[in-house]
Amino acid sequence: MDLSSFRTEIATLENECAAALRGAGDLASIEAVERKYLGKSGTLKGMLAKLGALPKEQKAEAGKLANEAVKRAEAALGEARERAQRAALSAAIEDKGFDVTIPGPVPRTGSLHPVTRVRREIEDQFASMGYAILDGPEVELEHYNFDDLNTPPDHPARESMDTFWTTTPGLCMRSHTSPVQVRGMRWWRKQGFPLPMRAIAPGRVFRNETVDASHEHTFHQLEGIVVGHGISIANLRHSMRAALRGVFGRDLEVRLRPGFFPFVEPGFELDARCTHCEGKGCAFCKYSGWVELLPCGLVHPHVIDAGGFDSKQHTGFAFGLGLGRLTCLRHGIADVRQILSGDVRVLRSFP
Ligand code: DAH
Repeated sequence: MDLSSFRTEIATLENECAAALRGAGDLASIEAVERKYLGKSGTLKGMLAKLGALPKEQKAEAGKLANEAVKRAEAALGEARERAQRAALSAAIEDKGFDVTIPGPVPRTGSLHPVTRVRREIEDQFASMGYAILDGPEVELEHYNFDDLNTPPDHPARESMDTFWTTTPGLCMRSHTSPVQVRGMRWWRKQGFPLPMRAIAPGRVFRNETVDASHEHTFHQLEGIVVGHGISIANLRHSMRAALRGVFGRDLEVRLRPGFFPFVEPGFELDARCTHCEGKGCAFCKYSGWVELLPCGLVHPHVIDAGGFDSKQHTGFAFGLGLGRLTCLRHGIADVRQILSGDVRVLRSFP
């Protein structure tokens, strides 16, 4: 073999390969062409192995020819492959069986628990009214949970709370968020913040109760406290109405009934016009036209003093919201257990 026949053979193979490619419409036949000419034992690639048969002085030139031919063939194959892929895609799109307007499967997304959402709405509402949002520990000192809240050891209110005690004396699971009142006042003073102090403290509370239709051992409260000079029941009423407007999106008429809690004097139960029937009377409000919303009152002087303020100069109001109950009112749910059950069917109805 000499250089000129080598050159002719390469040219023939290259032409054959190009012709085969023109006839190959789909990816499979393009791959067949590739195997035939450029595979391990492909005919065009195989020309490199034939270099040995050439006279020494022609080898360099022939090698260059063969390499260039292989490169050209590779490029042509690449282009053919791309063309075929594009054609396959547009064929699939134009095919009547492929309707791009049909919605794909919607992945299921998680969502916030309704109690969390109502809590955040209330937090936003109070934050917009200048309240700080405080946090307190769930494992609490007996002192904060009771003593500082004007509830001495022999006080009957201690029994009504059914507290979970830890194995460490003086340490319990907090039975309400009220201990944050005293913690909050002390912190406020320590920071040197100006009066009035306005704060809320949402969180979980725990009671050792038999679980039934209206009782859970763990539930959610939101405590509120305002302390300053000359804070009155009028301020309490006004603030509660403003907060409810934010949560329910409209004005709700409220009324105060006497209520008893050792840490407030006077203490009240605040009712609102039934959020279902607007006061006409329905099953939800037991035909009274009113629903019980939250207990509240003017902070007892002992509690003001326990917080480090001076009950001779300072007064305040406090309130305790049950978040589960409020969530029910807000979403028209009759049974609190439904939202605390963790039943996904209930939760999915709050997308
Ligand atoms: N801590 C009380 C409870 O859990 C609720 C309460 C009543 C909170 C009156 C208050 C209040 O701030 O003023 O039963």
